[in-house]
Amino acid sequence: MILDGRKIAAEIRSDIKIRVREWKRKPAIAFVLVGGHAASVAYVNAKKKACAEVGIGSVLLELADTVTERELVRQIEALNKNEEIDGILVQLPLPKHISNQVVATAIVPEKDVDGLHPMNAGKLLLGEEGGFIPCTPLGIHVLLQKSQIGVSGKHVVIVGRGHLVGKPLAALWMQKRSDCNATVTVVHRGTENLAKYTRDAEILVAAMGQAHFIRKEMIRPKAVVVDVGINRLANGKLVGDVDYDEVSKIASHITPVPGGVGPMTIAMLLENTMKGYMQRGLC
Ligand code: GUN
Repeated sequence: MILDGRKIAAEIRSDIKIRVREWKRKPAIAFVLVGGHAASVAYVNAKKKACAEVGIGSVLLELADTVTERELVRQIEALNKNEEIDGILVQLPLPKHISNQVVATAIVPEKDVDGLHPMNAGKLLLGEEGGFIPCTPLGIHVLLQKSQIGVSGKHVVIVGRGHLVGKPLAALWMQKRSDCNATVTVVHRGTENLAKYTRDAEILVAAMGQAHFIRKEMIRPKAVVVDVGINRLANGKLVGDVDYDEVSKIASHITPVPGGVGPMTIAMLLENTMKGYMQRGLC
C-alpha cells in the first residue's frame, strides 16, 4: 500500500488555512537562501508557495555564496528582533566557510521552526514539550499516525544519522509516550553488515541520501518502508534511497518519491510556523 504524503499534506494544509483565517495578524516566516544551489532554490520556492496557499506570509532573504558567516549571523539577528516574523529557516546546505552550528545557534529558539537550535534539539532529546521538532521527522511521525501505523513496541531501523532526520527521528520515537515508545536502531556508513539490521526492521526509514541504496534483500517481508531520499539521476529522474520497484512488492506500506515524505516536511514547516506564532502569544 502506498503512503500518500501528498494527500495527507493537502488535508493538513486545508486545516491550517481555516485556522489562520481567524487570526488577527497573518503569521510569517523568513527564508534565508545562501547562494544559488539549484535544489535549494526549488525547495525554498515550494515552501514559499505552500505558505502563500494557506495564508502564511513569507519573505526571502537571498545572500551571495561569498557572504561571511558574520554577516549572515547579523542578518539572522535582525530577523530575530523583527516582530512581524514568527519563524526563520536558513536553507541547507550552506557554503563550506559557514558553520551550520553557528547559524543554527544564532536563530532565537522561539523562531527556530527547523528545530536545529541546540535548545530545541536538547528539548527533543529530553522529551520536553514546547520545543520545535525538525520538520521531516515530525512529518514522518504524522504520516504514519494518520495512516494508523503505530510505532510503539515496534523495531524501527533508521538508516542515516544526520541532524535533519536520523538523529531527531530516533530521539522522537524513543520517547516514553504512547505514540512513540519504539525500539530504535540507527545504522549508518560505519555499520558492519548493515543488512542484518535492516532485515529485522518492522519499520524501516531510509535517510542516507544515496539513490536506490535499499534493495529488496535488505527488507523484512511486510515491513513499513519510509523513503526520505531525494536524488536526481543522470537522466533527470527523481528517485529515493529505496529501490521502489523492487521493495514495493514485499513491503506492506511504502512512501513514494516524490509524493511521500517531501510534502509532509513542508506541511510540518507550516505547523511549526503556526506554533511559533501561537507561543509568542500573538493570536
Ligand atoms: N535542506 C534540506 N532539508 C532541509 C530542512 O529540513 N531544513 C533546512 N533548513 N534545509 C534543508
